[in-house]
Amino acid sequence: MTPDLTIEIAGIKFRNPILTASGTCGYGEELADIYDLSVLGGIVTKSITVKPREGHPPPRTAETASGMLNAIGLANVGVDKFIEEKLKFLEKYDTKVIVNVAGARVQEYVDICVRLADCPRADMVELNFSCPNVDEGMEIARDPSLAEKAVASVKRVFPRPVIAKLSPNVTDVALIARGCEAGGADALSLINTLVGMAVDIESFRPRLTNNTGGLSGPAIKPVALAMVNKVYKAVKIPLIGIGGITSYQDVVEFMLCGASAVQVGTALFVEPNAPVKIIKDLKKFLIKRRLSKVTDLIGQLREY
Ligand SMILES: Cc1cc2nc3c(=O)[nH]c(=O)nc-3n(C[C@H](O)[C@H](O)[C@H](O)COP(=O)(O)O)c2cc1C
Repeated sequence: MTPDLTIEIAGIKFRNPILTASGTCGYGEELADIYDLSVLGGIVTKSITVKPREGHPPPRTAETASGMLNAIGLANVGVDKFIEEKLKFLEKYDTKVIVNVAGARVQEYVDICVRLADCPRADMVELNFSCPNVDEGMEIARDPSLAEKAVASVKRVFPRPVIAKLSPNVTDVALIARGCEAGGADALSLINTLVGMAVDIESFRPRLTNNTGGLSGPAIKPVALAMVNKVYKAVKIPLIGIGGITSYQDVVEFMLCGASAVQVGTALFVEPNAPVKIIKDLKKFLIKRRLSKVTDLIGQLREY
């Protein structure tokens, strides 16, 4: 028996539930030197903004216990060059392309998604609400009504599915999730990084020029699982789990908590091949457990 690894999100069929996470493999070019990107369920690009951005000066990453801190500052090529060069490169692969979009205001998300609407190989967009996005005096990631407005505005201009990516740096992630669902989000991905800090005791300086950064890697997995579990009970739309995934066991945990798919991020810096190994091992696990399809795992957590 070969288990069925396919999953479907908003009518889009993925060959397996393993995607790469935004910002951890650029636009796929370097990963493509290591393995055929067509083995992946999907690839999520680095956040794209209206204009190209240099990002913060180095150092902009720092290693921490079981994880890393980053403050890249949304360095990216901008939407024009992305469409001309990067999307053209990704089009060659038989995998789903999810374009991650970031902006300082709702209108910037709309402007980028208007451009991507005409690119059929931008299979989905993922809205990164976790940046220093200030609109109407409030970060989009932290205000359910602003998140609703942002998703609804993008839905009006982008004809394919829209994913809203949730920040863990909020009081109640379920409230933001419901706002995004009310705005018409087709799926939610969670979590982005947690705000953190690391200090160099020789120079008395923070280890990042931005002073604070986003914590990722295995250190954040328990937080991510608890949030996926909470949001799964709060909304009806599918979830994509993110946070510290390095093995098939992690994927099974996220799916039991309610994720339909997952994204692998920081693990790619340690082992770029991790997704390939995870896909193989996940298949073996399903065979061992006599499960005919991976979707049988979704939301099957037996809570106390
Ligand atoms: C170096 C780095 C850059 C990132 N850049 C982005 C980004 O541009 N947009 C975004 O939505 N998330 C970005 N993320 C967050 C990841 O996509 C992911 O949500 C987070 O790292 C948690 O997953 P992980 O623990 O598997 O890395 C970045 C993470 C890292 C480590």
